[in-house]
Amino acid sequence: MTLPNRIVVPAMVTRLSGEDGFVNRDITDRYVRFAKGGAGLVVLEAMAVHRSKSGPLLRICDDEFVPALRELRKKMKDAGPGCVAPQIIHFLKISRSGWRQKVEDLSIDDIRAIVENYAAAAVRRADAGYDGVELHMAHAYTLSSFLSRMNKRRDDYGGSLDRRLRLPVEVTQAVRRAVGESFPVGVRFDGEECIKGGYTVDESRLIALRLVQAGVDYVSVSAGGKFEDAQPREGEPLYPYTGYSGERCMPGKTYPPAANLYIAAGIKAFLRGQGVITPVVATGKISTPELAERILAEGSADLIGMARPILCDPDWPRKVHAGRFDKVIRCCYANVCKAKDERFQTVSCFLWPKGSIQAPESDDQVAPQWPEQTANLTADGSKGRIDLRWNAAEDNEGVYGYDIWRALGQGEFERIDAVPAPVTAYHDTTAVAGLEYRYYVQAYDQAGNRTPASEVVTAAVSNQT
Ligand SMILES: Cc1cc2nc3c(=O)[nH]c(=O)nc-3n(C[C@H](O)[C@H](O)[C@H](O)COP(=O)(O)O)c2cc1C
Repeated sequence: MTLPNRIVVPAMVTRLSGEDGFVNRDITDRYVRFAKGGAGLVVLEAMAVHRSKSGPLLRICDDEFVPALRELRKKMKDAGPGCVAPQIIHFLKISRSGWRQKVEDLSIDDIRAIVENYAAAAVRRADAGYDGVELHMAHAYTLSSFLSRMNKRRDDYGGSLDRRLRLPVEVTQAVRRAVGESFPVGVRFDGEECIKGGYTVDESRLIALRLVQAGVDYVSVSAGGKFEDAQPREGEPLYPYTGYSGERCMPGKTYPPAANLYIAAGIKAFLRGQGVITPVVATGKISTPELAERILAEGSADLIGMARPILCDPDWPRKVHAGRFDKVIRCCYANVCKAKDERFQTVSCFLWPKGSIQAPESDDQVAPQWPEQTANLTADGSKGRIDLRWNAAEDNEGVYGYDIWRALGQGEFERIDAVPAPVTAYHDTTAVAGLEYRYYVQAYDQAGNRTPASEVVTAAVSNQT
């Protein structure tokens, strides 16, 4: 599989499918948009290899799902040069009562069925014209739960690391046998469970090695997303991204850029030390071309996964390729997409226009302007934080949002957040007294055209109450 660039859109469920599991028009629109955006590899959202009941989720558990999947691949091919690989998933049962099936509950026949389901689903992927298939072994799902240190089975499928690996290795080998030697098979798994007593990179680098030996062609490293620390909600099934491990899976505003990079880098270094050249995908709050380039140049990863940044602006790769990062609508990691997924609602972006189920598209070239060339930006540090206010910008197609930029003292400006229009205020609750901050704001439209930077204001948090 030859990718046109090193950008990967990792799997992101859309909740756009019905419970029937078929590809529909909205899902097609979402992925055609990703394809058009120019990412090297788009991994289609997790699709079930079995019939078990779930909320809205795509399925590949029967040949009847193949024609619509084939049609989707065709449309994506017409839209862009990237490769496409669906992610395939097996999950255990959960109920609203809080009960959930555990790996310890599965019989040997159940385990055999999982192997067969994965192999059959992988063949359907190949039949539907995809460039590869990705085995979902991450987060709270069946294969990840086998890999987990929480796997307490007492037979050949649990206990020691080698036994925890047994089913994932069997699945990989069965898929490899079913699709043949030359069909690309990737794996996504947790490089760190991010739960108490869970495994870390010490074990996950061995997991990666074993899965490569079993036949995977790339290793996509995720983190967390477990049931063990999920927060129960009355009358709702347990959702695995509600605890600390869920936050580590989709690190929000409070996490630094590339928050999980050390995990992918640790795995890659180990694989290379073993003479294994299998590509490693790093994901998690990587959103600027500079950071992505640095990760590649330093050799910490071979491919850059970007989920939320590309949900926010599917044209990220195309714009950056054209040297126009300044036109990218930038994710602010508010995690509204995560919250929607949690509630089985259509996954959309906080920064999209209200009610939209797809990212807006515009070829407009006219940049928004500040009225009378000034944003009248003001900053007030009297409330234990810094409150910014400015005048609304004007645009021929309507202002879409505002980026907030901040510098500490005389340091460099960093874009710290964004707000959707028509909001024209921002509370910086992370500023502290004793330091001086400088701010400016910049308005953008749906095409990513931006106003000049507003005037710079200087502010400090006053520590008087
Ligand atoms: C709404 C949403 C749905 C997701 N669905 C999946 C999924 O189906 N499979 C998967 O492996 N990861 C899934 N993820 C995790 C992302 O692939 C990615 O690892 C995570 O968002 C961190 O990357 P980012 O910082 O680039 O967004 C999902 C993330 C989000 C926000």
